[in-house]
Amino acid sequence: MIIDTHCHLDKRDYDNLESVIMNMSNDIMIASGADPKDNKNVIDLVNNYQNIYGTIGIHPEFANTYTEDDLKFIEDNLSNPKIVGIGEIGLDYHWVSDNKEEQKQLFIRQIRLAKKYNKTIVIHSRDAASDTLDILKQEYDGKLKINMHCYSYSIETAKELLKMNVKFGIGGVITFKNSKKIKEVVDYLSLSDIVLETDSPYLTPEPYRGKKNNPKNVYIVAEKIAELKDKNIEIVINTTTKTALSQFDLSL
Ligand code: NI
Repeated sequence: MIIDTHCHLDKRDYDNLESVIMNMSNDIMIASGADPKDNKNVIDLVNNYQNIYGTIGIHPEFANTYTEDDLKFIEDNLSNPKIVGIGEIGLDYHWVSDNKEEQKQLFIRQIRLAKKYNKTIVIHSRDAASDTLDILKQEYDGKLKINMHCYSYSIETAKELLKMNVKFGIGGVITFKNSKKIKEVVDYLSLSDIVLETDSPYLTPEPYRGKKNNPKNVYIVAEKIAELKDKNIEIVINTTTKTALSQFDLSL
């Protein structure tokens, strides 16, 4: 059994969503919410499919537009046992960096919600390594479970994150020819600190780059990690599955 710890399963993205889900019927997916509309979709998915769990959260791109009702929706749904985390949340200075304060506020509010309800946080962080680290160091209480989705920073940053027992989401980028930095990070990390993800429908691995991604491609990610770490693919799948089960407190 393999676990795709981060994918977006939205009818708007797939004409054949049902078959995309059925292709993973022996495996597990964690559907990730990002905006309020996605969050409602995630609730429907986890209630309808046994092998889909979910995280709900407000992505930093909505830092200036989210409402208190949107946050309340998240809080109200954390009692659903199949909602296993708050995410994706974080900081993204890549496209917009003139609202850093608002982004940080929203990030911190959701981290505190996660601590209050004992949920894992799933972090989206782009071009914001040092602010992300600062906030995590400030908020980390020794118990908070942290997932760095689509990890893209340096080994040095990873070392700091490991002190907070962070797990690293590795996806299709690892198969790209120009992804030297993330390959070095994967080489550095222990296999037990890695969880697999696809970020479907985005970040399709080679050799399908350019096409729409789907959770089944998580096997390609596992295969690439096995190659890079010179391990058997079964070991990669078993180890990352074990880490994901514990990171998200999945009760199967
Ligand atoms: Ni995502």
